[in-house]
Amino acid sequence: KQAKKLHGKKALITAGATREYIDPVRFISNNSSGKMGYAIAEELAAQGAAVTLISGKTYLSIQNSHIHKINVETAAEMFEATVAHVADNDIIVHCAAVADYTPKEKASQKIKKKENDLTIELVKTKDIAKEVGHLLQPHQFHVGFALETNEEIKNAKEKLQKKNFDMIILNSLQDKGAGFEHDTNKVSIIDKTGQIIDLPLKSKKEVAQDIVRLIVSKLPKT
Ligand code: C5P
Repeated sequence: KQAKKLHGKKALITAGATREYIDPVRFISNNSSGKMGYAIAEELAAQGAAVTLISGKTYLSIQNSHIHKINVETAAEMFEATVAHVADNDIIVHCAAVADYTPKEKASQKIKKKENDLTIELVKTKDIAKEVGHLLQPHQFHVGFALETNEEIKNAKEKLQKKNFDMIILNSLQDKGAGFEHDTNKVSIIDKTGQIIDLPLKSKKEVAQDIVRLIVSKLPKT
């Protein structure tokens, strides 16, 4: 039996979709199931890390004494929770599908249907990963995700730079069975040096194992 590679390490991971409320019962969200992020949280814990999982609403449950789950709904809540925990962690993984825009105003009562059309003004949310990129200490390892529809590698590399990631995982949309809601995923992993590893279509659990193995191999020696 192999020794646990992340014993004594702490890891922070965001997962799932955020909800941006229009009124008390309506919101803007996306298709993220949280499966990839939860699988990574499980694998980090399996390797001995103490994990903080900051999760948007998902249909998943997690029962693991090494994973402390913090539930959030909105991008603003996820931002606050993540930033509050950064300093304490050795590994930070952004797997959440965070809304880029949120309603400028949230109605306190359910919005009534009227004769006319309705326009909702949206304002930008804060970029959690970018903020963490600014807060990063040399001993911390920073991992992000990207989902691109064109110039995938170029855009992913730009994101890696902009958000100060050590590694970015590019979700491929080319394959049936990859990405949102599926149990399988096909990804390419790009590191700071520009090295690209293309993984075949695998279960999200296996993808999580590959990702965590790579994190372990690239972790700064302390
Ligand atoms: O810029 P884009 O949203 O494509 O970048 C994706 C990466 O940034 C993911 O790792 C995602 O979790 C993270 N992100 C974030 N906060 C945002 C938007 C994206 O942490 N507001």
